Amino acid sequence: MNPETTRKLINPKASATRTVSIVGTGSYLPERVLTNKELETLVDTSDDWIYTRTGIRERRIAAPDEATSDMASHAARKALEMAGIEPGDVDMIIVATCTPDMFFPSTACFVQKQIGASKAFCLDVSAACSGFLYALEVAHQFVASQSAHTALVIGAEKMSSVIDWQDRTTCVLFGDGAGAAVLQAREEPHGILTTVLGANGNLSDLLSIPGGGSRLPYSPETLDKRMNYLKMAGREVFKHAVTNMSNAVLEALKQCGATVDDVACIIPHQANARIIQAIGQRMNAPMEKFYINVHKYGNTSAASTIVALDEAVRSGRVQKEDLILMVVFGGGFTWAASLVEW
Ligand SMILES: CC(C)(COP(=O)(O)OP(=O)(O)OC[C@H]1O[C@@H](n2cnc3c(N)ncnc32)[C@H](O)[C@@H]1OP(=O)(O)O)[C@@H](O)C(=O)NCCC(=O)NCCS
Repeated sequence: MNPETTRKLINPKASATRTVSIVGTGSYLPERVLTNKELETLVDTSDDWIYTRTGIRERRIAAPDEATSDMASHAARKALEMAGIEPGDVDMIIVATCTPDMFFPSTACFVQKQIGASKAFCLDVSAACSGFLYALEVAHQFVASQSAHTALVIGAEKMSSVIDWQDRTTCVLFGDGAGAAVLQAREEPHGILTTVLGANGNLSDLLSIPGGGSRLPYSPETLDKRMNYLKMAGREVFKHAVTNMSNAVLEALKQCGATVDDVACIIPHQANARIIQAIGQRMNAPMEKFYINVHKYGNTSAASTIVALDEAVRSGRVQKEDLILMVVFGGGFTWAASLVEW
């Protein structure tokens, strides 16, 4: 630098990180209800088997012409409405999904177009069922560091488009839907306290859609072997889900100096009621603390936690200043736990 010149630059991000709050939530579930009874006519299963093994009674299925971004946009509009924020004021859209509209552009770009958030930059996050908390943490960091003022975080899935409707071990478990949260910095000390994130790529084979990507592009063979559909080793997934979610919860509580008694409402990934019960036992948390809607929607993957949070907020189950714990697990494997002071 020339010593004669005095440079006077502003570093817009130099100030301390800010507290970030969820200032609005929204969700959308497609109208079509697919009951266990109806599934009995598709595959060799029964309402009793599904309910006792998973706690699921029914799930929602998107219309054939309804894509992930359509559901995401409905949820986003509701979240913005609750927050009292115009789409034009959103700086960042992040969509967690493993069922994007297309490989590219990102589903977030389609949402931007649909809701008219022309100022926002857009990206997708791929962390399967853990996606919403992964996306929440990415957006949290952007807002905390002042790289974005208003972030729209969405979890949305059309799982029905990647389910093998001939495979009874998986097709009974999943459903479609979307949820959204709006994040902004706030003066008061409430907000997202911590998010613990984890992954174990060594176990990626236990839950995946093996075909259709660059490893095994679509071919008559991959289609023949039905590799373009979700594959899962259910029992293994169950075990790892319980262990990793329980550990993530304990780590999040420890980081915040909190105990289970401090938590007003636990919002777990809604994959299976028995997984939730097992986590409750490990955490020593009574079932009443958990918000559960898996019976109505099945596993909506990245949408599950934010749909449940939105329902809990709108029904009054979550009150101001309550400590909320969200915990998720998904393919990858991936997992996460967030503590939020509402
Ligand atoms: C999938 C899951 C419900 C299966 O329950 P399970 O008690 O482990 O059952 P198993 O897979 O051992 O199967 C037991 C029997 O039921 C059968 N079965 C599997 N799906 C069935 C269905 N939908 N209806 C009837 N029978 C079924 C199996 O074929 C097996 O029969 P067999 O003993 O004659 O071989 C359970 O493993 C699970 O929930 N895993 C976690 C899945 C999950 O949440 N994934 C997403 C995480 S993000």
